[in-house]
Amino acid sequence: MLRSPAAPTAEQVQSLFNRIAPAYDRLNGWLSLGQHWVWKQMAVSWSQAKVGDTCLDLCCGSGDLALLLGKQVGSAGQVVGLDFAEAQLAIAAQRSYHLPQIRWQQGDALALPFPDQTFNAITMGYGLRNVTDIPACLSEIQRVLRSGGKAAILDFNHPENAFVEGFQQWYLQTIMIPAAKNLGLTEEYAYLVPSLARFPTGAEQVKLAQQAGFTEAVHYAIAAGMMGVLVLKKKS
Ligand SMILES: C[S@@+](CC[C@H](N)C(=O)[O-])C[C@H]1O[C@@H](n2cnc3c(N)ncnc32)[C@H](O)[C@@H]1O
Repeated sequence: MLRSPAAPTAEQVQSLFNRIAPAYDRLNGWLSLGQHWVWKQMAVSWSQAKVGDTCLDLCCGSGDLALLLGKQVGSAGQVVGLDFAEAQLAIAAQRSYHLPQIRWQQGDALALPFPDQTFNAITMGYGLRNVTDIPACLSEIQRVLRSGGKAAILDFNHPENAFVEGFQQWYLQTIMIPAAKNLGLTEEYAYLVPSLARFPTGAEQVKLAQQAGFTEAVHYAIAAGMMGVLVLKKKS
C-alpha cells in the first residue's frame, strides 16, 4: 500500500513495479499519446551514445530506452538494461530478441554491479524519482561512467512555475490516475503525486549532481515543463 505521503521503501517500489509490469507499457503509451517515445529519444540523443559504444540503461523497466540505445550503438556496441523488478525484465527480454547487443540484468541502482568507468553513456527514464537515495544513485552513475561520458536522466519535471505545476497536478489527478483506475491500478498510480512532490526541482538536481562529482550538469524542462532531462558529463 503506497498511499502514504512518506517515501516507500525499496521493497515496496520493487513489488509495485513487478505488479504493474503487464499494464505498464500500454498505460505509458495512452497517457502520453505516444509522446514518451519522443522524450526517450531526446534522452538517448543527449547521452551522445555512438555506434560501438558500451551503454547502460538504469531502471530500464520493460526496456524502452535500452531498445533505443541498442539501435543507436548497433551490433558493434553493447547495452545493459538494469532493473530490480524481474517482471519488468521478463517483458524487456521478449522485446529485444532482434537486438543481441542488449542484455538484461537484475540489480540495484544504488549499488551497481559494474567496475568503475565501464560505460560510455548512461540513460535513465523515470527511475531517479523512484530510487530511495538520489545522491547515492548519482554517485553510482558517476562511478561507472567513463571519463568524458554523458548521462541523460528523464523524469517528470518538478516545476517551479505555479501555472505549470497546476496544469501538471490537473493532468495527474484528472487523466493519469483515472486511466490507471480503468486498468485496475488506482492504488499503484496514486503514489505518483507524492513521489513528484518529493522529487527535487531541476535546479536542486543540478546541485546534487555537482555534489556527486559531475563537472557539467544541466537540467532541461521539456514537454511544456511537464517533463525534464538532467544531462550530466563526467570530467574528461
Ligand atoms: C517508472 S519505471 C521506468 C521504466 C523505464 N525506464 C521507462 O522509462 O519506461 C521505474 C523503474 O525503476 C526501477 N527501480 C526503482 N528503484 C530501483 C533500484 N534501486 N534499482 C533498480 N531498479 C529500480 C523499478 O523497478 C521500475 O522498473
